[in-house]
Amino acid sequence: MSETQAKAVTSATSIESVSQEQRVFPPPEDFAKSARVGSRAAYDALYKRSIDDPAGFFAEQARELRWQAPPQQTLEWRAPHARWFQGGKLNLSDNCLDRHTETWRANKAAIIWEGEPGEVRVFTYRELLREVCRFANALQSLGIRSGDRVGIYMGMVPEAAIAMLACARIGAIHSVVFGGFAAEAVRDRMNDAQAKCVITQDGAFRRGAVVPLKPHVDKAVEQCPTVEHVIVLERTHDPIDMKPGRDHRWSELVEKASAKHTAPALDAEHPLFILYTSGTTGKPKGVMHTTAGYLLGAYLTTKYVFDMRDEDVYWCTADIGWVTGHSYIVYGPLSIGATVLMYEGAPNQPDPARFWQMIERHRVSIFYTAPTAIRTFVKWGDQYPNKHDLSSLRLLGSVGEPINPEAWMWYRKVIGGDRCPIVDTYWQTETGSIVMTPLPGAIASKPGSCSLPFFGISPKVLREDGSEAGVNEGGLLVIDKPWPSMLRTVWGDDERFKQQYFARFPGKYFTGDGARRDADGYFWVMGRIDDVVNVSGHRLGTAEIESALVSHAAVAEAAVVGVPDAMTGQALVAFVTLKGHEKPSAALNAKLMEHVAEEIGKFARPKEIRFAEAVPKTRSGKIMRRLLRDVAQGHETKGDMTTLEDIGVIAKLRAHEEE
Ligand code: WTA
Repeated sequence: MSETQAKAVTSATSIESVSQEQRVFPPPEDFAKSARVGSRAAYDALYKRSIDDPAGFFAEQARELRWQAPPQQTLEWRAPHARWFQGGKLNLSDNCLDRHTETWRANKAAIIWEGEPGEVRVFTYRELLREVCRFANALQSLGIRSGDRVGIYMGMVPEAAIAMLACARIGAIHSVVFGGFAAEAVRDRMNDAQAKCVITQDGAFRRGAVVPLKPHVDKAVEQCPTVEHVIVLERTHDPIDMKPGRDHRWSELVEKASAKHTAPALDAEHPLFILYTSGTTGKPKGVMHTTAGYLLGAYLTTKYVFDMRDEDVYWCTADIGWVTGHSYIVYGPLSIGATVLMYEGAPNQPDPARFWQMIERHRVSIFYTAPTAIRTFVKWGDQYPNKHDLSSLRLLGSVGEPINPEAWMWYRKVIGGDRCPIVDTYWQTETGSIVMTPLPGAIASKPGSCSLPFFGISPKVLREDGSEAGVNEGGLLVIDKPWPSMLRTVWGDDERFKQQYFARFPGKYFTGDGARRDADGYFWVMGRIDDVVNVSGHRLGTAEIESALVSHAAVAEAAVVGVPDAMTGQALVAFVTLKGHEKPSAALNAKLMEHVAEEIGKFARPKEIRFAEAVPKTRSGKIMRRLLRDVAQGHETKGDMTTLEDIGVIAKLRAHEEE
């Protein structure tokens, strides 16, 4: 166990003594009465079946998907490689679109989209299918084929979902890059994926301003030898450079394209997407998911966790650039034929009541957001939600980080009117879909706990030696059986996949999170124990930020740690050692902040950069993160960004202890 991990487990163990959360909220009776899983006994029975006979259970569930050829074998598990539903052929886009257009849902709203400036566009399932077919034909007309990688770097516009579904339809592997990333991050991801095409837009509307996207792609693609085509959606209509031969306007491409396209039958294990996520090294991992297993995971969790109905208007506030946007804006809800609300902009545009206004306007019944957003709403004040009629809501969800019980209680009371159950859903980019959560009609909630595993998920809290931790004993969270929507590999680096996830406890998937299990068997996730920091629900590898800082000419060395933050959950503090001739200054501090924004994206800027004489290390050369965390939390810098800290003295004292 690494130094950081060991410390985190120690602190995970000590969290247990301070977390005295005793409140329990059983499912509301009327909710349970009509829920798909309406009692704890019903959940227990289904869960038991899913664990005792996963092949039988999932084979049966998978019949709810539309197959062009039925699977022959439910699971082949050669740890750490799983293959689900082999022999089966299907098309994910067909499952999300065509099949609904053959029913009364053809004219049902699939996506209701609201732009930040206020316009509303509605796509019925039939209209969405037409747009996806057009775009699929357009991609094919450019020579994009099954297996090719396509980057998607867009804002929250319906065309982002259309692009994803069109890729899935033709078997091209999409890799969505969050619109907040800078050119360098786009470049690195496109190069790692060897993308042939990038889909973007001129700019996006955010907080009343235009965020440019195409110029970033121009800069990135200069250094992406594999990218042959760039497709640009016109959203803001700001002037952009178009490179003849390489760049194409979305509108012109689809105008020429037919609205008919037959969805080809793809193998169950056909790669569906790559999504880059932060890990413990400077290089982000391309988490790869495949078609059938991923779809089944997204579909089943949407059905059971959100208990989604045809009458629901469902809103997930995540960005399409993160896995939550993939699974719970696009693939899960559309595969079940739901109505999805999608919003382009910021929650406080034009004022902090925007979300509540939208819930009232569209009669949203299921609302899914992140703890960091909830804490921000708390800060803005109850007057905003209180002004609006939120009585359409029947279910609330939370995702992205542990939710603190105070925020949970506020969410329940102020947004949920004390009547809506809350599903605190624990999962990861790697798990593809929700792996732990209360089922809203069956499992009593405890504020701050993601409660119990979803069907087929076998989580365990382990000690370092692999034995199972006792009740309320903090340990490492693993999942010791394969599940359909698990990642299949790390793109282009299967060795890293094995090392990262399956080496610590052979054959078991290691989540990277610390957790404990209480006397009722409820799981309490305590957060990452590796060098990954969760800022506002965004996963950031400290190593990535360190290497961004070190890439600046003035910097000799950098160490980045996460510290608790009341608003963003965790925040980044960077300790920077300068090269000999450089002097700390406020101007340099600002430059380094800007440098991180350019290298990774604005959202990755540390809360503080502190200059230090040296980055303290153990004798074996490991950065003493715990010490730095203490230093970062221990005393204020009082706005002085120029002091050179001498951590050397404490470092010497601690060096031995940290070894
Ligand atoms: C954290 C987001 C506690 C966790 C879907 C995990 C959570 C990481 C929860 C994955 C939750 C997510 N309770 N922690 N309900 N949901 N996390 O890949 O540390 O962006 O490992 O996927 O977020 O982040 P990712």
